[in-house]
Amino acid sequence: MHYHIWIAALLHLHWVLTVAAVPVPVPVPVPVPGGGSPKPSPQQPDKASSLAKLWNTQGNKHPTVFIHGLAGWGEVKPLLGAINYWGGLNTNLLDMLRNQGHTVVAPNVGPLSSNWERACEVFAQLTGSLTDYGVARAAQFNHARFGDNHTGNAMLPSFAQNFKTGANNLVKINIVGHSLGGPTSRTLTHLLRYGSADEMAACVKAGVVCSPLFWTNKTQTYVNGVFAISGTHQGSVVDDFLQATGGRKQLVKALFKGVVAINNFKNLGIWNLQLGHHGLGPKKGEEFGDFLDRICDSDWYLSKSNAFFDLSVANQADPLLSYVRNVPETTYFSVAGVTTNSLLGVSLPQISTLIVLSPFATIIGTYSNSRLSALWRYTQSDWRQNDGLVMVASSRGPVDGFQSYDMDLVSSDSRSLINSAPTSAPKKGTYNYVGELSHTDHAAIIGWFDIDTRKVEKIYTNIMQVLSSLSA
Ligand SMILES: *[C@@H]1O[C@H](CO)[C@@H](O)[C@H](O)[C@H]1NC(C)=O
Ligand SMILES: *[C@@H]1O[C@H](CO)[C@@H](O)[C@H](O)[C@H]1NC(C)=O
Repeated sequence: MHYHIWIAALLHLHWVLTVAAVPVPVPVPVPVPGGGSPKPSPQQPDKASSLAKLWNTQGNKHPTVFIHGLAGWGEVKPLLGAINYWGGLNTNLLDMLRNQGHTVVAPNVGPLSSNWERACEVFAQLTGSLTDYGVARAAQFNHARFGDNHTGNAMLPSFAQNFKTGANNLVKINIVGHSLGGPTSRTLTHLLRYGSADEMAACVKAGVVCSPLFWTNKTQTYVNGVFAISGTHQGSVVDDFLQATGGRKQLVKALFKGVVAINNFKNLGIWNLQLGHHGLGPKKGEEFGDFLDRICDSDWYLSKSNAFFDLSVANQADPLLSYVRNVPETTYFSVAGVTTNSLLGVSLPQISTLIVLSPFATIIGTYSNSRLSALWRYTQSDWRQNDGLVMVASSRGPVDGFQSYDMDLVSSDSRSLINSAPTSAPKKGTYNYVGELSHTDHAAIIGWFDIDTRKVEKIYTNIMQVLSSLSA
């Protein structure tokens, strides 16, 4: 099947339409309460005046780290000067949150890299250090131990102090992750708490100093709260499907080419895909398309050290992924988007689904679970509902690592947000699943191509309300 041709064509079309701001007839979404949360009954006694009061905490002012998903980018510069990963063309969600008084940063991590590598990259950028992927990991996957050097450029100098000798003033962070950024956040939270015994042993054996990320003597969590948006905690069957049908390579190329096609990429240099440690850095004068071809033809592409391995539903039980645990002192949240309607056992895209996501929504919505035993735990209608790239079931949280915690994230003020929240505080050490955002696909949930900018602004305002209301 020639996925690449029509995916690329659709991507181009959509970007051109959006960039040129040509008015496209768009169906008006049916107003529905977000989050699937029950409306508070009028008889209900007035709840506390803030989420922090409701949860009986003083709240916190921890800086929040935003981790992007597959084929994404951070805030080093908006892609091609115009597109914010967090907000798209219409809004800059990070600036909006800064104007509300929050400290937020958005590192730039490998858009096609494994969760392990992406976690190492976030750590290096936050603390201003040389990216250290680990001695054992480098040996296992036959790549260089070190990556980009961020020495002197800490995104969060106060957080970096935690790992200096004589540090006594603990500085924690909150994390927000979208898509692959969900499991990346969970991996980083695990490593910041437990480190890695394998890495420590390898450092001792080699007689070298280990990255503090891998220290196993850490005694408390450095991550207070985590919020996963459309996270791929149990993978996405899109990856398994495209792998089985030989379409994965085309998807990668189409995604990138679609994103860069709106601009003359040659004038802007090559997108650093942060694969230099695999010997896959960009070459001078090489065009981006050729760079992608070289990457997809390399040994790395078929290895177990990349995002495609991590995104496969079938691979979730592999020890390379299954070692990650929920940290008992950290409070996790998750939210899923849904852009499909379930009818007679299959889920099909709604008319408001972004045109490039519709085919994937259908792939997931009609996917048979016969060869994926990981899906047997779900009912058919359960795993087929999706946001155009990820199953709702996957976005709730890791297997057995979540509970329902309905909240209305589309609330327009803090009063309705508080009224929609359960009266008991969210549980630590598990994902508190706040529910589905209806009529919200995988791109709309980060503000891409969404006509209703107000909705996404409310969602992020509320997410920060939630994270900053947890006890410090
Ligand atoms: C990283 O950068 C710092 C500061 O510029 C420099 O002193 C150090 O030698 C660099 N390390 C490597 C391995 O390049
Ligand atoms: C934890 O282990 C690292 C690496 O062995 C060491 O440098 C550091 O001082 C230790 N920290 C504490 C608090 O013992």
